[in-house]
Amino acid sequence: MKLLEGHVHALTSLLAFLTAANGFYLPGAAPHNFGPGEPVNVYVNTLTPILAGKDDAKVKSLINYDYYNEKLHFCQPDGGPTSSPEGLGSVLFGDRIFNSPFDIKMLEGNGTCRSLCIVPDIPGEDSKFINELIREDYALNWLVDGLPAAEMKEDLKSGDIFYDMGFNLGDDETETPYLNNHYEIVMKYHEPSPGVYRVVGVLVWPSSRGGSQESTTPNCEGAAGKLALSETSNTTVHYTYRVTWEESDTPWATRWDNYLHIFDPRIHWFSLVNSLVIAFFLCVMVAMILYRTVSRDISRYNAIDLSEDVHEDWGWKLVHGEVFRSPQNPLLLAILVGNGTQLCAMVSVTLVFALLGFLSPSNRGSIATVMMVCWTLFGGIGGYYSSRVYSSLGGQNRRRAAFLTATALPTTIFAIMFLLNFFLLTAGSSGAVPFGTMLLVVVLWYGISAPLSAIGSYIGGKQGGVSHPVRVNQIPRQIPPGPKYLRPWAAALLGGILPFGAAFVELFFVMSSLFASRAYYAFGFLALTALIVSLTVATVSILFTYFMLCAEEYRWHWRAFLVGGGSAFWVLGYGLFYWATRLSLESFTSILLYLGYLLLLVLLVFMVTGTIGFLASYWAVRRLYSAIRVD
Ligand SMILES: *[C@@H]1O[C@H](CO)[C@@H](O)[C@H](O)[C@H]1NC(C)=O
Ligand SMILES: *[C@@H]1O[C@H](CO)[C@@H](O)[C@H](O)[C@H]1NC(C)=O
Repeated sequence: MKLLEGHVHALTSLLAFLTAANGFYLPGAAPHNFGPGEPVNVYVNTLTPILAGKDDAKVKSLINYDYYNEKLHFCQPDGGPTSSPEGLGSVLFGDRIFNSPFDIKMLEGNGTCRSLCIVPDIPGEDSKFINELIREDYALNWLVDGLPAAEMKEDLKSGDIFYDMGFNLGDDETETPYLNNHYEIVMKYHEPSPGVYRVVGVLVWPSSRGGSQESTTPNCEGAAGKLALSETSNTTVHYTYRVTWEESDTPWATRWDNYLHIFDPRIHWFSLVNSLVIAFFLCVMVAMILYRTVSRDISRYNAIDLSEDVHEDWGWKLVHGEVFRSPQNPLLLAILVGNGTQLCAMVSVTLVFALLGFLSPSNRGSIATVMMVCWTLFGGIGGYYSSRVYSSLGGQNRRRAAFLTATALPTTIFAIMFLLNFFLLTAGSSGAVPFGTMLLVVVLWYGISAPLSAIGSYIGGKQGGVSHPVRVNQIPRQIPPGPKYLRPWAAALLGGILPFGAAFVELFFVMSSLFASRAYYAFGFLALTALIVSLTVATVSILFTYFMLCAEEYRWHWRAFLVGGGSAFWVLGYGLFYWATRLSLESFTSILLYLGYLLLLVLLVFMVTGTIGFLASYWAVRRLYSAIRVD
């Protein structure tokens, strides 16, 4: 127990060190105590598309825009906006946080109508742009003391009240889009001890206020209808706001609970438990069948060998002289497996961190940061496994393998990111990753991860390949035509169904968090699902490998990888289905962005599950052939 605590402590310090050393900040890590009259700063983040309140709502775009994008003409603080420091993960996931001109002080100005600024002459062209964003359900994202400003909503199914992060830029219920130029801000505060105040909730009701915009006295009553921006002439907009301070019994420690609302938890649970049970029983059944058949086979083979010189082999024993023959293209396989193990290690450690509660949504972007740091540090694991697998497969060109293992995947990901970035830049989006961050990622990948991978390759190369229990024949056997379902692609699709079936509920939530700005925090479910998926992948690929060897098809290496990675093809199909049913992307850039991210996701899933399938099959084949006697 002491030891465990020590480890946890060490990990915590490591994380704290990594975050501090890179200037990452963890807002919400310690409560901020406000005195009366102390400024409460409002920070503004990018504008993101959200799901409109309707039942059949779809996300219409995937592009983020900077709050201070010049076409949006929002009120700026004196001296221009300054950007606030953010973590690497937060930047990669699209946060761009700036200060704002709101003048809010703890418990002051309760219920007073105030003017933010008057923006004169918004040209028709920019109005057109803003109206387009209103039609696409864009939302403003503010942060106050680390908390996102939210709209209070009711979950139509359960009737629960929850805080939905972000609030609408405008109102497009009718044909004309109206711009929201008035914000009713409700600050919920908690008073843990007299004179000490903490912010525990931020709600905003935006609304559109028409009438004269030039008058300098703010008008928060909205008697004069709504404000529509003209697309043919200049429009002046007067932004107003009103802050109400409301005491709340929510303590600071649980202030996130209102935000973390699970939609329809019953369906979530039902389908999750359902698929877990199915996957679990399938695994157990498969394992039992395999175990019984194989031990019967082994005793039969060994009995015959002992009894007579009647040498009659059948089934998988026939190919004992072939199973360890080098597959085609061992280099590519080794690279995939090496990078796959690196990814597996990254995913596992990230999930452990998430389970320990370090990656709550209050630490913006912490997941992406931890993933990046883990990926970098686990370069050595990738190099080590790649070079050992390469030697085991009979590869000769070790240097080339080491070099490609260290660089191939980062370069592929980089190429995709670069392409997406290019299109984002032409669309004027802030989602484009800034140059400095790109540089940091280059340094992490090529400056730290690649050398570590080379060191891993060197150590792996010293240890050499694993020994094989049976020798390889000089002349390859002929392969009889096998059943159709063992053909590589059929086997991959068949083998992928099971793991995909166990995971697709969680996949839906993960996709919604990536593409429909829903916060995801069900890490317990996710970790459990990941565990079940890896078990299923391992069993299924062992089963297929066994069938293949029984059919005297000995080219199992690539097929084991394909069967393991088969679920990626289902993920791809599901991604396209998700696009058709949940998104209605209008611009070319959004579509490209979606397909790009989907491709990355599919690639990573393919490598992780393929690696699990390959390594499990390798282990099983070695076990299988070391159990029989070969003369
Ligand atoms: C519209 O606004 C632009 C600046 O934004 C200004 O140059 C132009 O004169 C304005 N046009 C009219 C008709 O007021
Ligand atoms: C602010 O005003 C609202 C009503 O308008 C009231 O309920 C609330 O208690 C007031 N808050 C403070 C701190 O006076």
